[in-house]
Amino acid sequence: MNTKALVFDAYGTLFDVNSAAKRCKDKIGKDWENFANFWRTTQLEYTWLRTLMKKHRDFWKITEDSLDKSMKVFNIDKSMKNELLNLYKVLSPYPEVKKVLESLKNQKFKLAILSNGTPALLDELVSSNNLNNLFDDLFSVEEVKVFKPDSRVYEIPIKKYNIKAEQITFLSANTWDVSGGGNFGYNSVWVNRNKAKFDILDYQPKNEVNNLTQLLDIL
Ligand code: LAC
Repeated sequence: MNTKALVFDAYGTLFDVNSAAKRCKDKIGKDWENFANFWRTTQLEYTWLRTLMKKHRDFWKITEDSLDKSMKVFNIDKSMKNELLNLYKVLSPYPEVKKVLESLKNQKFKLAILSNGTPALLDELVSSNNLNNLFDDLFSVEEVKVFKPDSRVYEIPIKKYNIKAEQITFLSANTWDVSGGGNFGYNSVWVNRNKAKFDILDYQPKNEVNNLTQLLDIL
């Protein structure tokens, strides 16, 4: 591999998007996981729809709007809203994340996040989890005001580092994001934590890992 930068997706790849609802599972009840999955799916649909409609709103607004819809669908009391939103700002990382990043730090690669999240959200996510000195850059789609998988997003790190797309190894747990980055030219690696099936979208990743620790073996 001719990798010059390791670029990570944030939500779902480094940070567990269901961890906000999980922390409130006693209040939400037995449907907490279906609710969390519905919230996430709606949030992503809104990013794609707003990009297609050319009606950009930032990821925080979309997170709130998709939460409002999900709370209505699942009949969750309005009083939970602020608690869930505040927890979404400090989502937990997956257990191996810190150790893996620490062992990649000071090697020959740039380490960065490329995410739909706003700069403020990404700052808070990494600093609340004590990961802030491990990244060279936190790239946000707010630089281009469209969401993944628009190619303008995947251009951000190659412009910043002045490297070719194939010199980026991109890690995402989101299959559509792996396809988006791969079709753009990245070496996309799928972080398949739950034995899922890959998409049929013109790209097959050469590498698939079950967690980020396995990334160390393929580099
Ligand atoms: C992100 C979403 C795709 O972090 O998870 O960009």
